[in-house]
Amino acid sequence: MKALVLSGGAGTRLRPITHTSAKQLVPVANKPVLFYGLEAIADAGITDVGIVVGDTAEEIREAVGDGSRFGVEVTYIPQEAPRGLAHAVLISRDFLGDEDFVMYLGDNFIVGGITGLVEGFRETRPDAQILLTKVPDPTAFGVAELDGEGRVVALEEKPEVPKSDLALVGVYLFTPAVHEAVRSIGPSRRGELEITHAIQWLIDQQRDVHSTTISGYWKDTGNVTDMLEVNRAVLETVEPCEDGTADEASEIIGRVRIEKGAQVTRSRIVGPAIIGAGTVIRDAYVGPYTSVSEGCRIEDSEIEYSIVLRDSSITGVRRIAASLIGRGVQVTPSPRSPAAHRLVLGDHSKVQISS
Ligand code: G1P
Repeated sequence: MKALVLSGGAGTRLRPITHTSAKQLVPVANKPVLFYGLEAIADAGITDVGIVVGDTAEEIREAVGDGSRFGVEVTYIPQEAPRGLAHAVLISRDFLGDEDFVMYLGDNFIVGGITGLVEGFRETRPDAQILLTKVPDPTAFGVAELDGEGRVVALEEKPEVPKSDLALVGVYLFTPAVHEAVRSIGPSRRGELEITHAIQWLIDQQRDVHSTTISGYWKDTGNVTDMLEVNRAVLETVEPCEDGTADEASEIIGRVRIEKGAQVTRSRIVGPAIIGAGTVIRDAYVGPYTSVSEGCRIEDSEIEYSIVLRDSSITGVRRIAASLIGRGVQVTPSPRSPAAHRLVLGDHSKVQISS
């Protein structure tokens, strides 16, 4: 069995972060979201992994390499434009050959991995197996309609009027039957070859499409709110450690990871939180559910429920909350006079000012 991991896509809902960086590489508890997926695949005993890449190919290659650190062997499959998930399967035909495979969307986050799911699929081998979960707003997803016995009757991609609240989770299991399906469908309203339509095609051909409804934790990390929420959930599980240093005058409360070379001085850190390698925290408060990446500086400031990417600095600012701060960003107070907000913001930035 092989794995096909999708790591292309524009990531428009995570702009401006995704103007310069792949959405699959935004860190959750200081580790790229994509890495959790690759670890889950390796844990399920799958070692042959194809990664479909788009505009951000270079960055993904640099982060993942040949896959050996995850115990897998990676083949990169370039997709010249984001033409849809079924298109990704179409262009991966040579890599996939005639093997069964799991397709994993690189920005999806599933707690508990996929080992049980893969084992179940290996035993029963339906033509396709999908995962479903209840969501509050199904219009943002593929939506499944089930009959009284739980069989999938119909699937719709981002319906305006959803027939159920069961969304398709971004992990799919397929036999080679899917190849005929992806060749047989046409582009959707949004101009993409939808995997949802390919699976519908299999249903229409009376092929065997199974569904499993999961109640566990799943998020598509495509937007900032979900990203912060996934970060919160993962921070709840990190092992506390103090590989860096915290001085006597600092207070470290709860589950806090202080990574190598990080320095905490005269500060209060309330976990769960991570302070990345080499980061300096001085005269500051870092509150619960905050991940600060490596090489940052937080001084004379307060921050909580936020993600700060590497090499950023926050000085003299209170209080920052529910924020996603990119790489190499500087946040400082403005001079006393004139009392004005001074902003240099990238395209598609979002700023909420509290005064
Ligand atoms: C894709 C699929 C959708 C699925 C979702 C899960 O949506 O098309 O059916 O529910 O992933 O994350 P997209 O991320 O392309 O909007």
